[in-house]
Amino acid sequence: MISLKTILPLFFMFSCVYATIVSHDGRAITIDGQRRVLLSGSIHYPRSTPEMWPDLIKKSKEGGLDAIETYVFWNAHEPAHRQYDFSGNLDLIRFLKTVRDEGLYAVLRIGPYVCAEWNYGGFPVWLHNMPGVEFRTANTAFMNEMQNFTTLIVDMAKQENLFASQGGPIILAQIENEYGNVIQSYGAAGKAYIDWCANMANSLDVGVPWIMCQQDDAPQPMLNTCNGFYCDNFEPNNPNTPKMWTENWTGWFKNWGSKDPYRTAEDLAFAVARFFQRGGTFQNYYMYHGGTNFGRTSGGPYITTTYDYNAPLDEFGQLNQPKYGHLKQLHDVLHSMEKTLTHGNITTVDFDNSVTATIYATEEGSSCFLGNANSSSDATINFQGTEYTVPAWSVTVLPDCKTEAYNTAKVNTQTSVMVKRPNGAEEEPSSLEWSWRPEIMDGAVLRGKGDSAMNQLFDQKNVANDESDYLWYMTKVHLKESDPVWSKNMTIRINSTAHVLHVFVNGEHIGSQWAKDGKYTYMFEQNVKYKPGVNQISLLSTTVGFANYGAFFETGAAGITGPVEIVGWNGDETVVKNLSGHKWSYKTGLDGFQDQLFSSETSSKWSEESVPFNRMMTWYKTTFKAPLGTEPVVVDLLGLGKGTAWINGNNIGRYWPSFLAGEDGCSAVCDYRGSYGSEKCQTNCGQPTQRWYHVPRSFLNSEGDNTLVLFEEIGGNPSLVNFQTVTVGSICANAYEKNTLELSCNGKPISAIKFASFGNPGGVCGSFEKGTCEGSNDAEAILAKECVGKEKCSIDVSADIFGAADCDGGFARKLAVEAVC
Ligand code: GAL
Repeated sequence: MISLKTILPLFFMFSCVYATIVSHDGRAITIDGQRRVLLSGSIHYPRSTPEMWPDLIKKSKEGGLDAIETYVFWNAHEPAHRQYDFSGNLDLIRFLKTVRDEGLYAVLRIGPYVCAEWNYGGFPVWLHNMPGVEFRTANTAFMNEMQNFTTLIVDMAKQENLFASQGGPIILAQIENEYGNVIQSYGAAGKAYIDWCANMANSLDVGVPWIMCQQDDAPQPMLNTCNGFYCDNFEPNNPNTPKMWTENWTGWFKNWGSKDPYRTAEDLAFAVARFFQRGGTFQNYYMYHGGTNFGRTSGGPYITTTYDYNAPLDEFGQLNQPKYGHLKQLHDVLHSMEKTLTHGNITTVDFDNSVTATIYATEEGSSCFLGNANSSSDATINFQGTEYTVPAWSVTVLPDCKTEAYNTAKVNTQTSVMVKRPNGAEEEPSSLEWSWRPEIMDGAVLRGKGDSAMNQLFDQKNVANDESDYLWYMTKVHLKESDPVWSKNMTIRINSTAHVLHVFVNGEHIGSQWAKDGKYTYMFEQNVKYKPGVNQISLLSTTVGFANYGAFFETGAAGITGPVEIVGWNGDETVVKNLSGHKWSYKTGLDGFQDQLFSSETSSKWSEESVPFNRMMTWYKTTFKAPLGTEPVVVDLLGLGKGTAWINGNNIGRYWPSFLAGEDGCSAVCDYRGSYGSEKCQTNCGQPTQRWYHVPRSFLNSEGDNTLVLFEEIGGNPSLVNFQTVTVGSICANAYEKNTLELSCNGKPISAIKFASFGNPGGVCGSFEKGTCEGSNDAEAILAKECVGKEKCSIDVSADIFGAADCDGGFARKLAVEAVC
């Protein structure tokens, strides 16, 4: 007889590998034969930590997502040719299993070109340095490497049964990324390459459909998909391909020197609802959680360490309200309409002035959308015998073609105002005790001692191979007073593509410069007092992320490719001595990095005496206690210049708080109506581009000491540095009648109600005002009773509760609330 003991493991074995069949028709992705409405969100695993993943994915599920999308980051996984790293937050398999264990699907965008504001778009720099290589075109050396890495990833996922065809979570895979945007620049070779990509991907037999985003000529059976702020106009290139949106940009990324972009919840919801109104069935938010560019992972040049993206989950994984909640409600409504959306007969009624109604009719029932794409005028229409007012730039969703279940412009979710609190404790933090040491340059680089030499200026990628941000370019120049260039005023002039350039002549710092205002090249020119005889020129070039976008982006220069010149004046005549062909010595990296000064190990080389301020090329170290509690931790680096920060040896990224965002173009309130672009809604004008840096809890010892090490490159003052926690400070809501308002302080009790009024209150969060009409009951008292002392509360927004408020002029009645956490 076979015992249960023998059968059970077999049962589990087979049930685990039970295949899910993922396919598609022209209408939708099908899973086990069922057409699906799929809502997905991007979370890039290296932009958080494995300790954060379960919570991020759980919140995604609670937010109404069906799937998590991620790219795969080649340069992180293969830092040196055929040497692989899948440890820590590079543990792709663990990430996919976390997605699976939460019961979500996964979309695996292998690329392996990913763009993503990621260093070099995900390409390893060693690949650039292989002889004869050309990227993203019909080039054998490139294609071999691409195929090798893609195959490796597919095999790893297969080994763990992670494809849906094996019972795993992965329902879709992607090859390349937005190649259609650049294909023209590559001519016939581009077409040959994209065909090869399709064949190569197909041959890997993953058992799920492959997608190619922004690829109008995607060869069958590749599914071409859309990326952008809006994709309702998109039509796939084949009647058998469903209308899919792989990147709905939830906000935007940030460069050093730029302001904080945000995209309103209303506009984002409008874009989603519009897409589904017009036949879409798969949509992915890019990003759902943006996270952090730790270490040297940011792309560029000049992409910041934060990759918050104004996504529904903020950089630290907390709910970005109202965006998160407003979308969650939309997801619930769309899911409830899955049958009609994927099977219904579609008819559209045009009401003029960009107002349309779309009916999805099935025999069992119908669903409707009323869309108003006019950016200024609200519309009142009579639809199937009922009158509806559809605000400008909004979509009303009627799951039964009668009842308004959702309107994208009516936000009934609370706004959470996040604040930073010192040290997570009540009391003010004591200031940190610093020790320091200089980066040693005198005996070596300032005298021109390098590791290699050539009679040529090289691109930084070729010499440093991306092993460090830093590369020294050093040369000697012999000058006689009889030299034609010799004159009273002489300069050094450098045509620079160094992301940051520091110039030393005869051991002295002459100046530093970097590109500004979105440009990537600049000219450095400063007066220099040369001496007769040998002059030592030492130039330090620093990279701040390699380019990640555009045709041939990998060939763009980085570092000092020249010319480097000495300029003198002979009367009116300019005399130029070009040093570009001189003998140049090179040294990659800095001594302090080599000596691992960032590791927590104590070392006698540090001094506590006269800690200097505003001294460039300086290392600082301090110890601190982790802030109490479990809330996310940030380090406030206000006062510092530019450099790198480590917590207990973990590189938390480049910092540059001295780089201020531009002064103009900010607004606390942004009209959601009208087309969004990345510069439409911005905050943080004139402030440090990034002042706070994420310190994941898992990098900290909750008991005992922690070490913070800073390498300060341009000079700064660490005396203000302190640790803070990020938490909800106050919450506001502006909910329309007939909704249930939920208020939550993220696990903390609500401590007070600052404002509450039912009627037609005005103003915005933080400055609400009573309107001209108000319910007869005391709204503040009602809310205080329901909410104060509780972690969350919910209340029906109705005249029954708040008393009649007869607002003249037919206002839609609202409840505005501000509460303190
Ligand atoms: C897209 C690209 C993404 C990302 C995005 C901007 O073009 O596919 O990887 O770079 O732009 O955030």
